[in-house]
Amino acid sequence: MKKTVSVIGLGNRGTEYLGFLKYFHGAKVEIAALCDNRQQALDDIAPKFAVAGDRRFGSTDAFFAQGVLSDALIITTQDASHYKITKQAILTGYRLILLEKPVSGVRAEYTELRDLANENGVLLIICHVLRYSNYYSKIKEIIAGGQLGDLVSINHTENVGYFHFAHSFVRGNWRDEAASTPSILAKCCHDIDLIAWFMDSPCVSVSSVGSLKYFRKENAPAGAAPTCMGGCKAKGTCPFDAERLYITDPFYKAKFIKFMRRTLTGKAHSKKRDVTEAVKSGDYGRCVFACDNNVCDNQIVTMTFQNGATAVLNMNGFSDKMFRECHIVGTRGELVGYGNKLTMHIFGGKTTRVHTSPIHLSGHVEGDIRLISGFVKLLCGETDDLTNVTTIDATVISHDIALAAEQSRKNGGVPVQPEQG
Ligand SMILES: NC(=O)c1ccc[n+]([C@@H]2O[C@H](COP(=O)([O-])OP(=O)(O)OC[C@H]3O[C@@H](n4cnc5c(N)ncnc54)[C@H](O)[C@@H]3O)[C@@H](O)[C@H]2O)c1
Repeated sequence: MKKTVSVIGLGNRGTEYLGFLKYFHGAKVEIAALCDNRQQALDDIAPKFAVAGDRRFGSTDAFFAQGVLSDALIITTQDASHYKITKQAILTGYRLILLEKPVSGVRAEYTELRDLANENGVLLIICHVLRYSNYYSKIKEIIAGGQLGDLVSINHTENVGYFHFAHSFVRGNWRDEAASTPSILAKCCHDIDLIAWFMDSPCVSVSSVGSLKYFRKENAPAGAAPTCMGGCKAKGTCPFDAERLYITDPFYKAKFIKFMRRTLTGKAHSKKRDVTEAVKSGDYGRCVFACDNNVCDNQIVTMTFQNGATAVLNMNGFSDKMFRECHIVGTRGELVGYGNKLTMHIFGGKTTRVHTSPIHLSGHVEGDIRLISGFVKLLCGETDDLTNVTTIDATVISHDIALAAEQSRKNGGVPVQPEQG
């Protein structure tokens, strides 16, 4: 008999995971129920997964009122709702839950979920998708295998991409830390999770500096208007011009945000005129210097671990490409990672290009696919090995470091010891 999964939150992430479940695991898994508070999302998505009308829910209250509807639950709503929905899911009786990151920006909430999950025998997995990619799995394998000797330091850069930063953290869903979380948690909980995973030692001290440097009213160029299509005289030279980024850039030049039509229009199937209307009058057409954004566009975090090793994370919103770089140094060798290219230098020995995957998919798609494959194996009882699974216990570590970084940054970079336990 097939295992069943329900999904709450039918936006970008929810529909991506639903697609993987159907196309890669359809022989083992079927979708039991769907929930989204946008009727349009239910109407667009439910028929594709053959979910009957009485299994489509317009609110989490209606969904949870039915009791446990499936063997597992995926929660892919926006950040601020994760705590409440996950708590309700655990109390309703779901025992395998996949929850999008970040769990919460409030320590009392994410530790409560951890404790509730552990007390109730719930496997609560957080979508730290990068860990599941071949690339980062290989780095972990090399470090754990001792080829680099003892770890000394990690220098990790998260180049968010100027267009991606503007889309998500200036105009979009993660622009306001009260509605989501600070960018060092929203964007970099993945990076911090990787660093802590590689270090495999408690983080004992964190300090951080950073700011919202550029996307502020005072940096608006002469002639700027509140919206790009509302008479802006600077759009010809502005790299953030929404009309160009979302509408007129040709396919070969387009940045990935041009394809975020669902986010702009709220429709799974939109026409060019829907996108044009959204850019003319919606959030994503606003001048990047006239938004209600408040999250940092650059931040550096330094970390010291109990094993004596150190790490630096540099998050910035101003790169041309959207990719991560890392330099991992041990006593016997080093790894240099640039995007998905990985090179290992063994001191006094060979320099090798480390091949991590036969195919390289853009962004973190490969990690997304492998996360869902791992989740399905757990769901189907094909494994009970939780080594390297991003459970809530592992997530508490990265969230604690991110909150310590924010505390340090707001206090001029003073060292802060992350919470423990
Ligand atoms: N793991 C990753 O790498 C990664 C990448 C991007 C986003 N995310 C996270 O995934 C989550 C979802 O992001 P997204 O881009 O898919 O967002 P989205 O806005 O596209 O989708 C969220 C969906 O949830 C629905 N929703 C919101 N509140 C709800 C509620 N209370 N009840 C029912 N439905 C509700 C919305 O209508 C929407 O359809 C966010 O927390 C985000 O931070 C994770």
